[in-house]
Parts: sequence; structure tokens; C-alpha cells
Amino acid sequence: MTHQSESGLPIEPVYGPEALTGWDPAVQLGEPGQYPFTRGVYPTMYTGRPWTMRQYAGFGTAVESNARYQQLIANGTMGLSVAFDLPTQMGHDSDAPLAHGEVGKVGVAIDSIEDMRVLFHGIPLDQVSTSMTINAPAALLLLLYQLVAEEQGIPAGRLTGTIQNDVLKEYIARGTYIFPPKPSLRLIADIFQYCRAEVPKWNTISISGYHMAEAGASPAQEIAFTLANGIEYVRTALAAGMDVDDFAPRLSFFFVSRTTILEEVAKFRAARRIWARVMREEFGARNPKSQMLRFHTQTAGVALTAQQPEVNLVRVAVQGLAAVLGGTQSLHTNSFDEAIALPTDKAARLALRTQQVLAYETDVTATVDPFAGSYVMERMTDEVEAAAVELMATVEELGGAVNAIERGYQKNEIERNAYRIAQEQDSGERVVVGVNRFTLDEEEPYEPLRVDPAIERQQADRLAKLRADRDNAAVTGALDALRAAARSTDNVLPPMKRALAARATVGEVCNALREVWGTYVPSEGV
Ligand code: 3HC
Repeated sequence: MTHQSESGLPIEPVYGPEALTGWDPAVQLGEPGQYPFTRGVYPTMYTGRPWTMRQYAGFGTAVESNARYQQLIANGTMGLSVAFDLPTQMGHDSDAPLAHGEVGKVGVAIDSIEDMRVLFHGIPLDQVSTSMTINAPAALLLLLYQLVAEEQGIPAGRLTGTIQNDVLKEYIARGTYIFPPKPSLRLIADIFQYCRAEVPKWNTISISGYHMAEAGASPAQEIAFTLANGIEYVRTALAAGMDVDDFAPRLSFFFVSRTTILEEVAKFRAARRIWARVMREEFGARNPKSQMLRFHTQTAGVALTAQQPEVNLVRVAVQGLAAVLGGTQSLHTNSFDEAIALPTDKAARLALRTQQVLAYETDVTATVDPFAGSYVMERMTDEVEAAAVELMATVEELGGAVNAIERGYQKNEIERNAYRIAQEQDSGERVVVGVNRFTLDEEEPYEPLRVDPAIERQQADRLAKLRADRDNAAVTGALDALRAAARSTDNVLPPMKRALAARATVGEVCNALREVWGTYVPSEGV
């Protein structure tokens, strides 16, 4: 009987005590909430507070997405997670030629402060933590969020949430980058400095392995390339003159959770231990919060099948369990119909209910790191850690994450693993229930949710009205000031905030920065 191993590391059928010879729990494990945090970042973990049930959602205009958020809050979601459409993620307005056909499709269309106001209408921003999956234009969406909060009378110091803001992984996988690496890293350092001063409870970055995993990375590659990107961000902030304990407590991470429970729990435990050691030993972080790897997890999108979609309910439950047994701080469980289209309301509700069953009907919240001391788990944690550390050393030999990216190293390694997985699926060695085994002669029909194509016209009309109503001289002046800041070493967020407050659009602000910083063009062969 073959077992599914994402890393290709064989799991010995039975690990006995010999698996842990020379293994020192005081060094390898420690206590929950203490260095090296193998067992979890908080002493009490879920016995103190369950993970945040944070469902990624957003589509159409701000009106449709606001309605979905209200529905999720009514159904018990504990945090918001905003999906933006590709034009917003790429810094283009909904009426830009490049936006045609994508407006409101994979997320909500946000062009200006007016859309952001509608998106959070009726949601008190001091009562909810909001994650925003936005990278190259992350600063803009953070500032729009702050501006809307100010209109609600809420000071920035009370805002909690996260911007993904992790452009390095966009160069490796996913692709929503705008500027070249150097100005992108400068902008990220500006965000770190701005948030430390203005929005101190905001998580400034969500260093992501999820998208690399979805592109085919193994568990070891996923954590190695993610942590290597994290090291690049830390070095960037230090080079900008910040002290490591000034910004590191607000770094966060984002990983996938696959169906291979044992390997995934080992991966999460290994990632915490590596990061704690890197932050204390390499960067001299003294604040324990700087050494904690706090992370969000999303269940594996690529594991969802369009065939027999209800089977995905089982996969998502197993993957959600792996994330919880691995000590995640925040979790998104995929909807069973997402391999077909945007989730229906019922599918979105079932995805949330899956987390509620894990949190309130199982006993996984009754203890901390239940696998601690398990022969197989401690051995696998060591194995994933060793494999990841070796990959991190290779990235370091290539000159760090940016240099390795520019040589295509991470992308090539991930594609190699993706090819291995595809071959195993094609041969049937890797079972995909309903797809290459236990199939149906005829699939049952399923009616997915569809986004109204009139959304694009609606957004274009809103933009035309906004540009006609606003003080265009003020917008022009604000954008000129932003360009001047981008050319200097001044922090670009204050002038950016003034431009957005004057109703400059997302596209106009990003175009102003494109004029100064240019755009990233992958080098040949990457
Ligand atoms: N004991 C003591 N304190 C505890 C505790 C415990 N057991 N549990 C929680 N707390 C405290 C925490 O310290 C924190 O307080 P603080 O902010 O003052 O430190 C508070 O309770 C909230 O706890 P967490 O910070 O652990 O939980 P959050 O949910 O607020 O934050 C996070 C989690 C990972 C740090 C944060 O960065 C986050 O929410 N990330 C989400 C990222 C996300 O949703 N991404 C979506 C990506 S989708 C995507 O990329 C697109 C698609 O392609 C996949």
C-alpha cells in the first residue's frame, strides 16, 4: 500500500524508539509558547483561544462582497479576508484596457476610497481583523482601509489585520508583481516603518508559501523558499535602519495544508523551529514575539477536484484538521465547489461549518501540540527541517532569495517537483479519488455561481463619475508629490495617503510609481 508523500520522503511503516535516538526534547521541543516554539507560539494555544476562522472572500463590486462579508459574520466567521480582482492586484483601474474581462472576477474590484467605503459599510473596523490579499499595491489598500476607518472615527492604532505584501513569492509563483525587486523591497520597508509609527497592531506582511505549494512545491520547498524570502525582508528592513525587534513581531506567514496530515503537521512544527533559530541566532532578535512564526493556513486548492465535488468536503476537513494539529493561528477552508467556480453561498457556509466542527465538536482544542513526543512525528519534523535547511543553504549560496529568483532557481525546483507529482498522478501511483480511481461513468450536474459581466460597466461608470466630481487639480498635485517622494528616500506612504484621500484611483497611484520605478520584466530563461 503506497502512502501519499508530498516530499517523496518515505514514511517508515512504524517508527519505534530507535527513531528518536539522540533526540533531546528540551532542545528539539521546548514548551508551547517558548523558544524554539516547535509546539506552538502561545503557551495555551487553542485551550486559550481557538484559531481565527478567516474565510477568503470577494467578487464583483464592493456591494456584492460586502453582502458576502455580512453573511460570513452572521454565520460566525471570526476575521475577514479580502480577495481582490486581478486589475486591483495589478494596480490597474477597472476601466483600463488591461482590465477588460477581469473586473470583479477572482475578487472584488477596488478603484478608489469610494469602493473601499462600500466594501466595509456596516462593519466596525475596530471590531474585526481584516486580511487583504494584496501584494504590489498593498500600501494603497492599507491606506484606503485606514482612511475608511478614520471616517468611522476609528484611530489607526486600533486597527488589526494583515496585508500580504509579499512580492518576492509573486516573482516565483502567482505573478501579481508590478515593480522590479529593488523598488518593491523599498516600498515594503516603507510599509514596515509606516506601520510601526502609525498602525502598530497591523501585521505588515504575510510571507507566503501557499502559492509556491499550489505551483507544485514540496513541504520542504514550501517552507524553505518562504523562510528564505522572510530572511530577505528582514535584511531589507535592517538595511533601512530598523531594529529587528521594531518590525519582526508583526511579520506573519501563510502556508498550505495538504491532505497528507502527518507530513503537514511535521512541516508546520519544523517551520516554527527554523524561523525561531534564524531570528535569534542570525538576527539577534531578543523579543520572543520576533522569534514566533505566526501563520495563516489555507487548505489545498489544487487538491480540489471538479469530479464528484462533494468529495472535496472530506479533503477540506482532513486538511483543516492538519492545519489545526499543526498549530495554525488563522485558517481558511476551501469550498467544495471551488474547482468548478466561485463558491455558492451554501458552499461557503459549509466551508466555515467545517472549521466550527473541528473547533467545537472535536477535542483538538483541548490540548496543545497533541503529536508531541510521537516517534513518527518527531522523526518527520526532523526530516522536513533538515531538507528545508539544506534548501535554504542553497538559496544563501546563490546570494539570497532575490538573486536566486533572478536566476530562476526556486521556480525551476518547484516545476521539477510539480512534474514528479503530475507523473505519479498520471501513472495512478498517486491516487486522486474520483479522478484516477473510484471514478463515475457519468458526473452529476452542478450549477455554480456566476459573476454578472455587467460588473465591468458598472465599475467604469463609477470611475467616470468619481473623476468628474473630484478636485482634479488636488489629485494632480498629490500625485506629483508622490512621484517626488518615490524619487527620493522619503517614505512614500504619507503622500500616497494624501493622494488616495483626494480620490486618486488605484490605477493612477500605481501609474505614478510605474513612471518612477518602472515595471518588472522577468529575465530570459526564468
Ligand atoms: N494565548 C494568548 N494570546 C493569544 C492566543 C493564546 N492562546 N491566541 C491568540 N492570541 C492573541 C494574539 O497574541 C493576538 O494578539 P496581538 O495581535 O495583540 O498579538 C490576538 O490574540 C489574535 O491572535 P492571532 O494574531 O494569532 O490571530 P489573527 O487571526 O489575528 O492573526 C496571523 C493571524 C497569521 C498573525 C495574521 O497575519 C493573519 O490573520 N493572516 C491571515 C492571512 C490571510 O488570511 N491570507 C489569505 C491569503 S488568500 C490568498 O493568498 C489568495 C489565494 O490565492 C489563496
